[in-house]
Amino acid sequence: MTTHPLDPATADEIERAVDLFRTAHGSDAWFSSCGRVEPDKAALKAWQEGNDPLRVIRLLGVDRSGDGGFEADVALADGSVQVRRLPLETQTPYGFADFAAAIRLTKAHKGWLSAAEKRGVAVATKDDLERIQIDPWPAGGYPHPDIPQGHRAFRCIAFVRDDPKDNGYAHPIQGLIAHVDVTAGTVVAVEDSGVVPVPQTPGRFDSAHQGATREGLRELEITQPDGPSFEVDGYRVRWQGYDFRVSIHPTHGLVLHGLSLNERPLLFRAALSDMVVPYGDSDPMHSWKHVLDASEYNLGTAVNSLTLGCDCLGEIYYFDIHHVTWDGKVRPVKNAICLHEEDYGIQWKHFDAQSETTEVRRSRRLVISSVFTIGNYDYGFYWYLYLDGTIQMEIKLTGIVGVSAVEDRAVNPEQSPLIAPNIVSPVHQHLFSFRLDWELDGGTNALYESEIEALPLSDDNPDGTQFRSVARHLTTESQAMRDTSPQTSRTWKVVNPERLNGLGEPVAYKLLPGPSPLLFARPESAVAKRAAFATHHLWATPYADGEESAAGPYTVMHAGEGGLTDYTAADRSIAQCDLVMWHTVGVTHVPRPEDWPVMPVEYCGFHLVPVGFFDRNPTLDLPSHCHS
Ligand code: NI
Repeated sequence: MTTHPLDPATADEIERAVDLFRTAHGSDAWFSSCGRVEPDKAALKAWQEGNDPLRVIRLLGVDRSGDGGFEADVALADGSVQVRRLPLETQTPYGFADFAAAIRLTKAHKGWLSAAEKRGVAVATKDDLERIQIDPWPAGGYPHPDIPQGHRAFRCIAFVRDDPKDNGYAHPIQGLIAHVDVTAGTVVAVEDSGVVPVPQTPGRFDSAHQGATREGLRELEITQPDGPSFEVDGYRVRWQGYDFRVSIHPTHGLVLHGLSLNERPLLFRAALSDMVVPYGDSDPMHSWKHVLDASEYNLGTAVNSLTLGCDCLGEIYYFDIHHVTWDGKVRPVKNAICLHEEDYGIQWKHFDAQSETTEVRRSRRLVISSVFTIGNYDYGFYWYLYLDGTIQMEIKLTGIVGVSAVEDRAVNPEQSPLIAPNIVSPVHQHLFSFRLDWELDGGTNALYESEIEALPLSDDNPDGTQFRSVARHLTTESQAMRDTSPQTSRTWKVVNPERLNGLGEPVAYKLLPGPSPLLFARPESAVAKRAAFATHHLWATPYADGEESAAGPYTVMHAGEGGLTDYTAADRSIAQCDLVMWHTVGVTHVPRPEDWPVMPVEYCGFHLVPVGFFDRNPTLDLPSHCHS
């Protein structure tokens, strides 16, 4: 199997890259991530089988240099190592070594321990300390005044477990935050907003703690006796005319590369760019929280190893990937990307009453998915490719909600509803920015907003019944900052003006948004600056190398420069260009009792739908399965 420039880094490549980096720069680095660099677009488009695969491995991490850390690009062909030091005001993503240090420092701090003891938490023995769970949260946007600029910092909150496998979130240690300066190796302050007893009601959700398992669910088997209908070659997938590559990016997670349909290009690259989880509660344990899970916590490195029969059902193909550990070893993740087909009900149907005949065809979709766990939350990203050319992104949100302990149930139900005895959970949002790098039918693309307009009463519209579809060409970056409008059926259309369909109209795909909120935090807030992407549902930019990060490439301890607000500052023309669309999608989560102690999956996402990309229903040739 030959290597393609977009194949994920192999174990050998990571080992070589770490060795070359250490030879050039010493060995005291803490690595936070590792991935192969995607060659720039021109190089990638010119690349052919048999060429040098352009393998460059990027290592991110920190050492003792007292700046923002390093970005090291190791070219495997010639062994050269290029290191870029990050400035003080920005930092490489947090890694395992940062978390471990924050946890160790908090548990060793006398002031913190005595404050925990005041809440009835045992801290005397090693076993006691092991039952304490510390969750480090990014301090960006709200750095403690005693932490110098350029230092990596956390706000650590804590929980206590009954035993090592307990759900610690059932027992929050309320009102206590440790401000940890990881760079200096100190706890600079312990913030104590008041003692509340630790809730004691258990929150276990494993089978062993549920009593009897329910009955009556008989076996449901999904079999494909002739095997699946897709073909896999390395990280390349072909299915029903679709052709693409998959990978896991350290920040963006699951990526689709070079997606085409019937040899017609659709998307050069499609992936999450960043995401933010802002909390709306006044509780000092939560009011500052707005983690950028992708860029601060390296979402891609938190990918789960999936299990057949549990995570995925049916004829599954799994892709493995490799990460780097904090101390430079290879960490393989088996079954990181799941590929399978799903029956999806009917594709189309008509019953002809006059002749009493029925024509019906079944729909099927190809599912490409990965699941990522960041602290208490689990995020599944599912790309669905359908037989009729529709492409869907569905995000599945699950895991455990953030909590506070209360004695009085009526403290602040509008901002933090009661979800379990003595447990409230703050209102919060999950807002995702997807970057869609279009190359619709090759060449350059244009962006239109289309919506429905009611016509005024007139001689031509005497009954006031008429409405029409209007389209507006969005020609600049500022014009393309748009929000959804379901009441006017607003969608956004990507058009290739130079490619006409059989009806003589330019081919197009539309972005069909879901019912997503926008950021509620005020424009003056730290989160509105650090996650400005979440202030609009749509942004668009002309493609430029390196513009991949909705909130900026390195956001740890960062004030918010370098992302979409900077990319669009010059208000470039997008009238007809190599178009990149950025779509904000998400949910506002008002926690419910049913979300406890583990949250049933909540869904959000969007669709990309062909509009005149084909000349007619492209699924007329599907085989019929009816034999009447
Ligand atoms: Ni939530």
